[in-house]
Amino acid sequence: MSDDTPKPAASDIWGGRFSAGPSEVMQAINASVDIDQRLFEQDIDGSLAHARMLSACGVISSADADAICTGLEAVRADIRAGRFVWKAELEDVHMNIEAALREKIGAAAGRLHTARSRNDQVATDFRLWLREALSAAIEGLTQYQKALLAQADAHADWVMPGFTHLQTAQPVSLGHHLLCWIEAAERDKGRLADCRARLNESPLGAAALAGTAFPIDRGQTAAALGFDRPMANSLDAVSARDFALEALAAAAICAVNLSRFAEEIVLWSSRRFGFAQLTDAFSTGSSIMPQKRNPDAAELVRAKPGRIAGALQGLILVCKGLPLAYSKDLQEDKSLVFTAFDDLALAISAMAGMASDLSFNRDALEAAAGEAFSDATDLADWLVRELNLPFREAHHVAGSAVKAAEDAGVNLSELPLEAYQAIEPRIHDGLFAVLSARASMESRLSYGGTAPVRVREQIDGWASRL
Ligand code: ARG
Repeated sequence: MSDDTPKPAASDIWGGRFSAGPSEVMQAINASVDIDQRLFEQDIDGSLAHARMLSACGVISSADADAICTGLEAVRADIRAGRFVWKAELEDVHMNIEAALREKIGAAAGRLHTARSRNDQVATDFRLWLREALSAAIEGLTQYQKALLAQADAHADWVMPGFTHLQTAQPVSLGHHLLCWIEAAERDKGRLADCRARLNESPLGAAALAGTAFPIDRGQTAAALGFDRPMANSLDAVSARDFALEALAAAAICAVNLSRFAEEIVLWSSRRFGFAQLTDAFSTGSSIMPQKRNPDAAELVRAKPGRIAGALQGLILVCKGLPLAYSKDLQEDKSLVFTAFDDLALAISAMAGMASDLSFNRDALEAAAGEAFSDATDLADWLVRELNLPFREAHHVAGSAVKAAEDAGVNLSELPLEAYQAIEPRIHDGLFAVLSARASMESRLSYGGTAPVRVREQIDGWASRL
């Protein structure tokens, strides 16, 4: 750049020791306002609490505090109404709002930043935002659980194949299967709530990193913003982002749980399974194959862990090895968390929608439940109970019976008694009572088991908890 090239002006906000403004690329890499403008409500709430506290502590006059608060509400109204022009040269949401405040109320705006820094300000805003996002996710999961519960209630005694290794294993109740995802969602809610409780401490007043010489009351701003207490260490207050990592970890685990049921919806609605279908509201067509009904929403939920766990990985690497206290690296936290929680909110809503929308095919489920010798364990259990065989031996006898049935091309219930007696002479025709998918399901009465009586108890429990 030659000396006669006009230079951009230094920042009004921090440019006192500068004679020129940043280069274009400096501004491009530095500005975060495109992303962090999403924090404007929290930023204004934090500033209102800070201004009132400064006045209560005698740090600024009550007239200045009043002007600041009125001005901030006017800025908020402009932003909400879409009248606000965000400026990249003002870097971020904090300086955009402060500059707008100055335009509204003049010099008094300059007193707002007393005993505060953008470092504690952004940490405060971000915790407030995440607190809301976590609450919204928890509420969304409750709606999803309610949708699952209604389906579990309607299908408590429908029999379907249970799988291990995606191979037919033992018959289970459809209601039981659906209740499994209510349990998982409850743990996800617990993780999100734990994270919310742990992050609910106020960084405000930590200032740049060391605290402040002004006689502020951090307890007052903490209380005004709904935090449980002020953070005890000013360095920690401005540099900690483990709250965001924890939120992303909880979100990633939740997304993984959602993706597993999403995958089952994809499988169940395929012609090969034929267990269930989604209505038009949750299906899409193909631009070339007129017959297609695709479960795109379920597939996209299945994909979300890629993005959300990717955000977790991204922020973990941003934070790794950062020395105390604040470094600009931390500005990269917000886009990752915002997109991850947008993805999570959508995934939860889509799963709640699909959970209600699904309809099930009773005959296909029951037929599949009876296939592939799914009652072989019931045969072995019967041998243990009736003939007092050790389970290992019973397993062997039942295995031989499966082989004989397979060779004859029949189910276990269709294999003649003589064929059983050729394997184990003491077998009698009482055996046939346990050889059906329904009998198998109904027999599993252990606590947490799939017998419809047990499933009903769980449904009743969830109905009162939700
Ligand atoms: N935009 C910044 C962020 O998101 C705010 C804090 C900037 N602090 C600083 N000293 N430059 O992290």
